[in-house]
Order: sequence, then structure tokens, then C-alpha cells
Amino acid sequence: MDISKLENELKSVKQQMDGLRDLEPSKRAEMGAKLNTRNREIEAELFKAQREAREREVNDRLQGDKLVDITVPDLNARRGHLHPITRVQREVEEVFASMGFIIEEGNEIATEFENFDSLNTPKHHPARDMQDTFWLDNGQVLRTHTSTLQNYFLKKYGPEFRAISVGRCFRNEAVDASHENTFFQVEGMMVGKDISIANLIYFLKHALTAVFKKEINVRLRPGFFSFVEPGFEFDMSCVFCDAKGCSVCKHSNWIEFCGCGMVHPNVLRMGGVDPEKYQGFAWGFGLTRLAMMKYGINEIRHFNSGNLEFLRSVK
Ligand code: PHE
Repeated sequence: MDISKLENELKSVKQQMDGLRDLEPSKRAEMGAKLNTRNREIEAELFKAQREAREREVNDRLQGDKLVDITVPDLNARRGHLHPITRVQREVEEVFASMGFIIEEGNEIATEFENFDSLNTPKHHPARDMQDTFWLDNGQVLRTHTSTLQNYFLKKYGPEFRAISVGRCFRNEAVDASHENTFFQVEGMMVGKDISIANLIYFLKHALTAVFKKEINVRLRPGFFSFVEPGFEFDMSCVFCDAKGCSVCKHSNWIEFCGCGMVHPNVLRMGGVDPEKYQGFAWGFGLTRLAMMKYGINEIRHFNSGNLEFLRSVK
């Protein structure tokens, strides 16, 4: 019998039971016993009907389901992917490794000596103010540049070597579309006999051409950094318009790429290298900016946003 019919019948039996008190006492007992029996019967039938209905429902659902082998790997699953910074880091490391550069890792927390003094930037030197520094309570700093590696390279590999180091740097900057308090730099340094700025131009031009997969032109302008002499600003031809003039290069055809120069004699001396016999070059460029140019990203905050949809879409 169907469930709603049984429910109705049950209701009517209950109503009749309620009416028992109006019957004569002699009929009440007999009628009461009958109604009780009927009540129990209907309840049992209803219970059975409900259980059968539930079973039917589950069986129907199982019939509709496909068999699933949960041990088969899901070939449509989204794969993990490398962060754009990691991708461009690997490209940069590969091209410099192919030109004989050692790849080193540095610490994100640096001593005052590493970040400033070893770079010919003693206390009270105005050049310290060029970088808004996060100071730690213990007197150390979150390094403001990867130039902290220069003294390390000199002591570890001097007086003849070429090396790069990629890493995170920190500055207490106001954040906007092109400035972040955390960004990546690539330090490069080469020391030896008869090293000149011509060598630096060659290596950087070659690396940029490899990363952008097209010929990149470069130019140098004088620039000041206390740890190089002479110092330069290194510009690259605009990759967005191929030096034809666009809003990114402000129609100058050039984009500022990095600071560089010949390693200051004081820096060599502090690293235990004799500046009378050896000389070298150094540069420090922004890997984050390089990634932005390579992938056409115009908002630096995307990198650390945790926005996987965006990061995944970067091709
Ligand atoms: N450390 C400098 C900066 O962060 C860049 C630089 C590196 C300049 C090496 C000269 C030589 O701006």
C-alpha cells in the first residue's frame, strides 16, 4: 500500500481512539482493543513501506552511477606550475651558467657590513639613504640588494671568478603598480686580470638577447653607486616597441635596466683582493622587472597576490 494512504488510515484510527471516551464503557473496551490492534498493524506496514521506498531510491541512484576506479590518475587534473619568477630565474641562471658563471645563493637577512660597509658605504654615507632599509632589532637588515654577495664572492672565489646570485630583496617602499617592498634581484660579478666594462656589456647583452629571444641593444650612462667606480646606468632597447617609440619607453626607445660598474678598489680590498693587480665589474638587475617585461605584466603586485588564476595564465 502506498505511504500516504497508510498515513491517512493511521490518522483516522487515532481520531477514532480519541472518540472512545464518548462510547459506553461496555463497548469502549472491545472497540479500544480493536483499534489498538489496527493501529499497530498500520504502523508496521507504514514502517515497511517507508523502508522499501528508501531502498528503491538508493538502488535507483546506484544504477545511474558509473563505476569509478579511484586508482586511475585523473588525466584532466590541473597540473602544478612554476611561478613566473621561478621560470625567468631558471632561464637567467641557465644562460649565465652556460657562460661559465658560478651560481650562488645568499641570505635574505644580511649584516650591516654585508649590506653597506663592505660596499664602500660606511655609516653616515649619504648613499645609505638611497635605499629605505628594514632594520632588525639585532642591528641586521633585510638586504636591500643582492650586492651583499659581492664581499662573499670575493672572499670565497677571489681573485679570479665570475658568479651570479638571484634572490629576494626588501625595501621600505610605498607600494604601487611598479614598486613592491619585496622583489628579486640578480647580482653578477666578475673579477680577474684585464677585466673591463666591455666584458660586462657583452655578458648582459647576450643574456638579454637569450631571455627575450631577439636582439637587444644596450647603452650605458654615468650613474652613481658607492661600490663601483666608474658607475653606470645600463639601458636596454625597448622590447615593447622594438625601439620604435611607445608609451612604456616614453618614446625614448630605451628602458632602464640596471645599475653596474667597475668594482670599487675599496670593495676589492675589503674582500681580500689586491686592486693593483685585479679588477672586476658588477651589476645588479631586477629579476621581478625582467619577468614583468618578458611576460608583459604591468602590475607588480600580481606576483605575490596568491592569485593562481592569474599566475597560471602567464605564458
Ligand atoms: N645594488 C644596486 C641597486 O640595487 C645595483 C648595482 C649592483 C649597482 C652592482 C652597481 C653594481 O640599485
